Amino acid sequence: MKKTLLTLCAGLSAALSFAQISIIPEPLKLEQRPGVFLLNNHVEIVAASVDEQQSARFLSEYLHKHYGLKLSTVAQAGAKPAIVLAVKNVATPVVAGEYELTVAPEQIRLHGFNPQGLFYAVQSLIQLIPAKGYWQLEVPAAYVYDKPAFEYRGMHFDVVRHMFTVDEIKKYIDYLALHKMNYFHWHLTDDQGWRIESAKYPKLNTVGAYREGTIIGMFPGTGFDSTRYGGYYTVAQMREVVDYAKERYITVIPEADIPAHCMAVIAAYPEMSTTPDSIRKPASTWGIYNRQNNVLAPNPYTFQFLKDIFNELIDIFHDSPYIHFGADEASRMWWRASPESQEFMRRHNMKDEGEIQDYLVRIAVETIQKRGKIAVGWDEIMNDAQLGKEVVVMNWRGTRGIEAANRGYQVIMTPSRFSYLNIMQKPNEEMTAHRGMTTLDVVYGYNPVPDTLSAQAAKNIMGGQGCMWTEYYPTFSKVEYALFPRMSAIAETFWSGQERKDLGRFKQKLSKQFDLYDLWGAQYCTYVVDIGDVKRR
Ligand code: ACM
Repeated sequence: MKKTLLTLCAGLSAALSFAQISIIPEPLKLEQRPGVFLLNNHVEIVAASVDEQQSARFLSEYLHKHYGLKLSTVAQAGAKPAIVLAVKNVATPVVAGEYELTVAPEQIRLHGFNPQGLFYAVQSLIQLIPAKGYWQLEVPAAYVYDKPAFEYRGMHFDVVRHMFTVDEIKKYIDYLALHKMNYFHWHLTDDQGWRIESAKYPKLNTVGAYREGTIIGMFPGTGFDSTRYGGYYTVAQMREVVDYAKERYITVIPEADIPAHCMAVIAAYPEMSTTPDSIRKPASTWGIYNRQNNVLAPNPYTFQFLKDIFNELIDIFHDSPYIHFGADEASRMWWRASPESQEFMRRHNMKDEGEIQDYLVRIAVETIQKRGKIAVGWDEIMNDAQLGKEVVVMNWRGTRGIEAANRGYQVIMTPSRFSYLNIMQKPNEEMTAHRGMTTLDVVYGYNPVPDTLSAQAAKNIMGGQGCMWTEYYPTFSKVEYALFPRMSAIAETFWSGQERKDLGRFKQKLSKQFDLYDLWGAQYCTYVVDIGDVKRR
């Protein structure tokens, strides 16, 4: 233990004092070469095709925003030192995201084996540029060859418990891009609010988008403030987010969570509640589950609603092949207590209330599939054998993801133990974050494809993501603090894969990564297991 501590301390301080090159997530091949490329305003970015210009835009905006550099982009290299961006045409099939990057003293060359790969070459270049400096930066000469281990690399963001501005969402998406992630799972509805503009169901916005107050302190809390809280994203705003993400090779997967987590829906439209006569409001507290009725009633109004609302969602997010319908944490007690639901069960020969959940879920799934989309749900959906294997399972509980892969489902791994970043990451955060302890080491230690899985089952694991639930995260800077550096560890799990991971080396890379967080203006946690809080200058 003592030795580990000393070694890690030495590693961190060495990394602090030498310009050692490193990239997060760890690339397949990284070689440092002699010399440096001088990056200043005399350098030109060369990008000819539309795809090349797309990556060039990100690079030039980044250099301007963070270093004050103003590089012009040209279609052909001239006499000036250049950063040359090219999508390489290769005959053999390539992994989406494969690239090569060469930094030489006279030129920087980025080769994407496809357009997405070029964008990731830009991200690796960004990691090689010194985090501190202005006007003239010495980029160490290097060669990088790289490709991702998993197709799906993502982050989820709950904008219901607390809501964030479009600019903050864009910042979040930039963080994904900088970590070579390609999916943004946008959790848009829950008990505390419906955040999607709806033309067909306007009361989702006038009533369902606002709660009357918010619980004070940690659940169950010490009372409620009486500040009305909420809002929703207009269709135009959601399209703006989709386009922003697309420019960064990120797909936005929207989630409308049904048939539970629906207090906001039944507050707006009590006809969809199993207790329509009791007046409800969107929840002001967390931890609803079996404490307050939040399920949709199995009636014709709900059936139509499910079809309409998922069609509206697909109209907005038509770019995404995946649409998430939630399906987690439906307590059966509300259907059990409802005479109409019991009557519905009898008419349909249902053996238990779980089949009501399945019935409602199937309407959402059919609607999604009819539009040519792939339906994604939390791991509860595996309870329904009739659903078919076309649905994608998002695992959040224990080893349900492994079970799903073994049973032949495509799976996105986000087990709460390793992937929920709302949980405290160091001692003494009890009053500010969810209880439990998800340190950087725990997150980094996650292996989504254990050796016990058969080769066939392993293929069913698409990749995974981190989840950012926001009950205790009212501000974006607090969200950043929860994300970093754990999100960087998640990026390494799903981009680099298990063979390339090394916790000791990852920790050594942190000092440069902390400098980058500073450069980006992001908050982060400096606590490292066995060392404590790392001092920053
Ligand atoms: C979940 O955390 N209920 C998906």
